[in-house]
Amino acid sequence: MDLTRRQILKLTAGAGAALALGGRLPAFAQSSEIMMRPIPSTGELIPVVGLGTARTFNVGTSEEELAPLREVMQAFVEMGGTLLDTAPGYRNSEMVSGILAKDVGINDRLFMATKVAAEDREGGIEQMENSMSLLNRSVIDLMQVHNLRGWQTQLATLREWKAAGRFRYIGITTSSARQYDDFAAVMEQEDLDFIQVNYSLGQRQAEERILPLAADRGMAVLCNLPYGRGRLFQAVEGHELPEWAAEFDAQSWGQFFLKFILSHPAVTCPIPATTKAHHVADNMGAAYGRLPDEAMRRRMTEFFDAL
Ligand SMILES: NC(=O)c1ccc[n+]([C@@H]2O[C@H](COP(=O)([O-])OP(=O)(O)OC[C@H]3O[C@@H](n4cnc5c(N)ncnc54)[C@H](OP(=O)(O)O)[C@@H]3O)[C@@H](O)[C@H]2O)c1
Repeated sequence: MDLTRRQILKLTAGAGAALALGGRLPAFAQSSEIMMRPIPSTGELIPVVGLGTARTFNVGTSEEELAPLREVMQAFVEMGGTLLDTAPGYRNSEMVSGILAKDVGINDRLFMATKVAAEDREGGIEQMENSMSLLNRSVIDLMQVHNLRGWQTQLATLREWKAAGRFRYIGITTSSARQYDDFAAVMEQEDLDFIQVNYSLGQRQAEERILPLAADRGMAVLCNLPYGRGRLFQAVEGHELPEWAAEFDAQSWGQFFLKFILSHPAVTCPIPATTKAHHVADNMGAAYGRLPDEAMRRRMTEFFDAL
């Protein structure tokens, strides 16, 4: 499924349009519910495809810059998405996420995840207060320590604020295999609701230690860089989607890549980023239908590695 911009515009016409998904999704999706997975620490269910905002939402506040991203946000919730991942480190992205969530009237429906990156306690507090203000939230669903920066200091504040009801969940992130030893050490010694790690068909190192450890420790897993910042699409350029992708209901390369991630049992939710509403529709399609089994996962990795 790859809806055109025109189709999406038609579909999302009218702010707060009802969730009339019929006709917009492939047949299997119309007859099936969006896939949800539990956050292990509470059992709360979340839809299995989220939305990243690094670079893509780092724009100015002119209507010309905001309009296409408003369509992205609207398509995302219309297709059943809720989890949005942002960070102060993504420059304007956090502010733009807040503006758009308000514009589209869905701020209270989003599962809002952001991050803190500071060495000292006061710097972290200032940043997190600012995030809450930019996101128009008195409660943030998930606060993550960005790339483990100042993690001991920041986790102490995160726990205090969680106890005070300002954060519902807390976690840590990384996007580099070089950090996995330190990351695993924190996972082993700290109780966390979530981790976020780079994992995709092109970067599978997290399978060795991080993903099994998350499963053992009962931590939800968000997967960043699910398309390797777009490099996965370049790798398959000029190649037809294999016929056997239909066996797990993937109708596009995007769905092929996301369903690979989702078929790992430790994964909760990949968070692809995009500037285009028709790509959101494509990405959300991965949250419907069947997933690859073990044998199919091997076939996918062999296919990809041979490219
Ligand atoms: N350390 C950390 O905590 C960390 C690090 C990295 C990322 N993250 C999080 O993870 C999110 C995802 O990572 P990312 O944004 O770096 O990269 P990504 O999601 O792997 O790739 C984004 C790229 O894929 C393209 N794309 C998206 N959907 C597509 C589709 N259906 N068909 C074709 N192209 C498509 C986008 O282009 P178009 O705009 O043209 O669609 C964009 O160039 C980030 O936004 C951020 O929230 C966290």
